[in-house]
Amino acid sequence: MKLIMLGAPGSGKGTQAQRIAKDYKIANISTGDIFRDNIKRETPIGQKAKSYIDRGELVPDEVTCAIVTDRLSQEDCKGGYLLDGFPRNLRQAQKLEAFSAPDAVLYLETEDSILLERIGGRRVCRKCMGSFHISSIGDTTVCPVCGGELYRRDDDNPATLSARLDVYHRESAPLAGYYRERGILHTIKGNATQDEVYAAIKRVLDKLQ
Ligand code: AP5
Ligand code: MG
Repeated sequence: MKLIMLGAPGSGKGTQAQRIAKDYKIANISTGDIFRDNIKRETPIGQKAKSYIDRGELVPDEVTCAIVTDRLSQEDCKGGYLLDGFPRNLRQAQKLEAFSAPDAVLYLETEDSILLERIGGRRVCRKCMGSFHISSIGDTTVCPVCGGELYRRDDDNPATLSARLDVYHRESAPLAGYYRERGILHTIKGNATQDEVYAAIKRVLDKLQ
């Protein structure tokens, strides 16, 4: 299966992608995680991406598309892939279509009003990249899944979130229409519990398999 997760910042893409990848044994590719790893290692890609991510803007297409096509060429993507956070604009979608057309797009539809609270309380694991919320894990700094260190992302602040949301509505949300026209869009209500969202995703994926 070749899958895309589409949705606003905080809609639950990363949370659901980890469950899907584990249960369906599919390569999970998060462009945001790839950039954050490059920033941590201070690579040329990381140095270039950091200023865009800090401002909540998209990293330029030529950088992002090269990373994704390179990653999709690797052995573990031969049987399919799950892209979390790519494509985010029409140019990226067209590039992907030409390189490796997706089978289905899982669109997590949410209202903006719930996102600030989700992003504001998010903690991310440096080791397994798991995404958690202080409402369920409290103020611990230890990952409940792998024991790694939890941290708060630099772009998880109200000002940068506001910029990320603007970019999302302007550039990424129109992709729902693009994929609807192609008949591969599956809309899932994101304002439900994590288990309810996952159950809805499973219903879609089990039909596709
Ligand atoms: P990226 O890392 O992809 O960030 P994002 O799109 O802003 O999305 P998030 O990771 O913030 O949210 P999510 O949907 O994964 O939510 P999560 O599951 O964690 O990208 C970061 C930056 O990198 C971009 O701004 C851009 O600069 C750059 N970039 C990345 N891709 C790019 C591209 N293709 N082109 C150019 N630039 C690119 O959940 C959030 C919180 O909510 C957590 O606390 C979680 O526990 C909680 N939660 C999840 N589901 C539920 C639920 N159902 N109910 C209640 N709480 C929930
Ligand atoms: Mg994410």
